[in-house]
Amino acid sequence: MKRLLAIVTVCTALCVALAGCGVAATSPSSSPSSSSTAQAQGIDYLALVNKLNPLPQGWEEALQITEVKNSLGSDVKVEKKAYEAYQKLKEDLEKEGVKVDLDSAYRSVAEQQKIMDDFTKEKGADYAKKTVATPGYSEHHTGLALDLYLNIDGKDVYENDEMIRHPEVWEKIHAKLADYGFILRYLEGAEHITGYGYEPWHIRYLDDPAIAKEIKDKGITFEEYKAGKTYPTVSYDYGQSNLYTTEELEQAAIQVKCEFATFAGCELHNLRYAGDEYNTKENLDWLKGLDNNANYVQVAKILTDFHSPVEGGGAWEADKEMKDYEWWLAREEGKGWQLVSFGYN
Ligand code: DAL
Ligand code: ZN
Repeated sequence: MKRLLAIVTVCTALCVALAGCGVAATSPSSSPSSSSTAQAQGIDYLALVNKLNPLPQGWEEALQITEVKNSLGSDVKVEKKAYEAYQKLKEDLEKEGVKVDLDSAYRSVAEQQKIMDDFTKEKGADYAKKTVATPGYSEHHTGLALDLYLNIDGKDVYENDEMIRHPEVWEKIHAKLADYGFILRYLEGAEHITGYGYEPWHIRYLDDPAIAKEIKDKGITFEEYKAGKTYPTVSYDYGQSNLYTTEELEQAAIQVKCEFATFAGCELHNLRYAGDEYNTKENLDWLKGLDNNANYVQVAKILTDFHSPVEGGGAWEADKEMKDYEWWLAREEGKGWQLVSFGYN
């Protein structure tokens, strides 16, 4: 909350109205091809739930849940058909020597809040922002999002930091998802569209292998499938920095992109590092002042070019190329980047 107040202080009126320095809710888009089976059962298996679209009303009343225990002894709740499909996927993977289990699937709003609080406390608000959905806006509320964990050489591997170190295993898993009606939801590099960092473990059930295959083959996000269009490729330029490694700047870019995903209808074109010359005491003091005198020691400024919504929307002037839009990040000693301010100053 502290951080959001800081953003409000410096955003232009346009930024405040549009990005709302939080969640700019829009009505969930209707599915282009929801199957009648899905509707007859009361839930839309193609519903889009993300930073802009909350869980549709009445969902929980219609949801049918299967409850199971995982190898760690935790109870996991999953939407009924998604669980049946997951079992088939798991069986198939086992034939290839890949063992998976369910870490988490359906989560209530209260459970999501607890996760958000724990992550913020343990890993910091910056990490939480790109990893955990705001309660009410998590795909896990649908019961159709499944977080997998791995069992490698007889050992359960469930920590995010550890799981990410097994790309070859995830590759085998991802290759089979569509056969059972699942997609990988948070693609690497698509943070500006999905609003989250890469999560190889988070899969989403669509109840339709043909659609899942189409999404996979096109290499698009579920957002793009729902919008019926593919977003342009983003170009990046991290330039030369004597302060930060490219990896550190990429981490800053992910923070920016996760926020950009809340700019409904905007298309990101270019993202670049503004240069070491912005790491000044003056800027540091300004950002500290915006964030309750946080103990920041370094500043990174990022610039973006993007296109405003063709039809307009929020406070954006319609169909306009927005150049050199500023994003200011800061970090405390040994910690991750915090997005403190964005907008035209
Ligand atoms: N980890 C995903 C984004 C969630 O919390 O819903
Ligand atoms: Zn998840």
